[in-house]
Amino acid sequence: MIQSWRLDDSRQTLVLASQNGHLAEVVYWGPRLPDDEGLETLTMAHTLDVTGGMLDANPELSICPEATRTFSGQPGLVIRDALGRPYLPKFCFAHEEVSENGIVLTFADQAGTLTYRASFSIDQETHVIEASAEIESTRPMHLHWLAAPVFPAPQLSDAMIDFAGRWCGEFQMNRTPWSAGIRYRENRTGRTGHEHFPGLIVPCRGATNAIGHAYGFHYGWSGGHRMVAEELPDGRRQVQFGHATRIENEPATRFATATLYAVFSDDGLNGCAVAFQRHLRDRIVQFPDRARLRPVHYNCWEAVYFDHNLPELKEIASRAADLGAERFVLDDGWFGERDDDTRALSDWEVDPRKYPDGLTPLIDHVHDLGMTFGIWFEPEMINADSNVFRAHPDWALGGEDQILGRQQMALNMALPEVREFLFERIGQTLTDNDIDYIKWDHNRVLPMPDAAQTRGSYALLDRLRETFPEVEIESCASGGGRIDFGILRRTHRVWLSDSNDALERLKMQHNAALFLPMVVIGSHVGPRTCHTSGRMIDIRFRAWVAAQRHMGFEMDPRELTNEETGVLREVTNWWKANRKWLADADILRLDSSDPAVIAEQHLEQAGGQFVVFAGKAETSAQIAPRPLRLTRLSPDRHYRIELLNRADAPGLSRGDQAIKSSPLKLSGAYLMSHGLTLPWSFPETMWVVKGTLL
Ligand code: GLA
Repeated sequence: MIQSWRLDDSRQTLVLASQNGHLAEVVYWGPRLPDDEGLETLTMAHTLDVTGGMLDANPELSICPEATRTFSGQPGLVIRDALGRPYLPKFCFAHEEVSENGIVLTFADQAGTLTYRASFSIDQETHVIEASAEIESTRPMHLHWLAAPVFPAPQLSDAMIDFAGRWCGEFQMNRTPWSAGIRYRENRTGRTGHEHFPGLIVPCRGATNAIGHAYGFHYGWSGGHRMVAEELPDGRRQVQFGHATRIENEPATRFATATLYAVFSDDGLNGCAVAFQRHLRDRIVQFPDRARLRPVHYNCWEAVYFDHNLPELKEIASRAADLGAERFVLDDGWFGERDDDTRALSDWEVDPRKYPDGLTPLIDHVHDLGMTFGIWFEPEMINADSNVFRAHPDWALGGEDQILGRQQMALNMALPEVREFLFERIGQTLTDNDIDYIKWDHNRVLPMPDAAQTRGSYALLDRLRETFPEVEIESCASGGGRIDFGILRRTHRVWLSDSNDALERLKMQHNAALFLPMVVIGSHVGPRTCHTSGRMIDIRFRAWVAAQRHMGFEMDPRELTNEETGVLREVTNWWKANRKWLADADILRLDSSDPAVIAEQHLEQAGGQFVVFAGKAETSAQIAPRPLRLTRLSPDRHYRIELLNRADAPGLSRGDQAIKSSPLKLSGAYLMSHGLTLPWSFPETMWVVKGTLL
């Protein structure tokens, strides 16, 4: 007996089938199938043959592969009873709930102990499939591993792409060839982590940024994940995502995965990127006011660090406002006796030595300048040298002899009294002061992973947001250590990296665009000499790289020369004039024929205008620039193409190129097939091209 279900949108179909009441299996996922496709026949057609040396039939690669069905690959569930004995369920179909865009399938364990439920829904506009799984038990159990519903990976794919990183080097792309066995990534840091962004892209052979088939996955959870991409001996491939293993430390009767976001694209990696960008922006992030334009930020961290001095901060604020900043963010150092990073975390009260009259004088000054005020917290952390730790040493997570991280410990967020304390302190600061923004930091990994910690953090964030719905929150964790759709359901911006080095940023932003839209990625113009790389970078490049995302400044504005000030004002004005449509634009990664050029095209959703940022990351191998192919334009329409910063061409760009003197009228067909030939340029510079549909 075959039962089957399908989910469709305009470009993809997902077919699930259950045979003989067993757990369902994804029997098809890819381009949209005809409405009248016979799903029973399709399921039978999906069956693999058997030969010598195999079982007499192939066990299903189900949405939760079961060892009890002789499946010899990685199982989808590993669970033990209260005495620690392995429990091996065998699930049978119980019931279905089918709605227009969703399917919920429930399966009951033959022994009557467990119920497994998988939910799938498809978004007709963004094309993202959301999938999650839960287990219920009649008695408390210990969970070792539960996968979100398991998807097959395509056979016509030679390599998978996932993401590693480090402090100041987030979103590094890894390509790993498929081969027999598993690629296993497990993040046991207790936060999303720089090291293992929970995402995977599986391009089919020949796919590039702009063309071909590709599959994308993202697991929306901030407590550390596990990914298994396995090729079975019979050639089938499975992708599993879930919480890191063994992070449920208490027996319980219910366990649930976070949401796995999955998408099939028929137009290259950009199809995945656009789906994730739109889904995150339009479905997940809950801006207090969707229509509010993203304000230009000023953050004082790299200007003053812990050395807060009111007259100086006021002067900095005045200069920042003069450059065009609209929100001033007071970073670490305003509370307790926080003179360096060895002390005072958790003492969330204004330091009277630095602010004898509280924060009001600074906030009033900032408001008088027309800016709003934001403030830094690192709520989940505590220093041993703090009043709160002296009063509540039992609030810290982990043993006394643990290795510290940045001289600090994490608080135990599973404790209601800890959450209550933090709610009260943060709430008081927000009530006493006119603050519209929190930079919420998390600067160390946990001593051991624990799902209850993440649930505690989420609960605190949810309660604060409910009480202070106007306040926006930025997720920071030594830069990009907590970036995922789970935290972004509760926050509104991410600090992609502590690196304000425009060259490093250019690369990171480009890769992060596979998942994240412009509106959530903070990008600041840093100091002339970058504090984390030592590189000296020209203001033009710094400004344009910041203008690719949610723009801000994070240098001491007193270091700027008149010329630098002029450039920065000009680029900031350009950003402000364009931010409305850029906020909703799709970031498309261009297939650059020159590996030295990292280029992206921000295309207005309606297609009427776009901007191309072509960043030169290094010196090219060949002497003249190669044409840059644009994407997703109308081939038979014409565009006005204008090199916005043509005045930046260096003296060594000697040719008589038309684009250097006036806008050109070119067809979409030409721009997409031949490409746009830009002038010669130095490394660490950026060409900015505006396109307008004529
Ligand atoms: C972390 C953040 C920085 C800054 C410092 C403050 O490193 O990533 O941006 O806020 O903490 O201590």
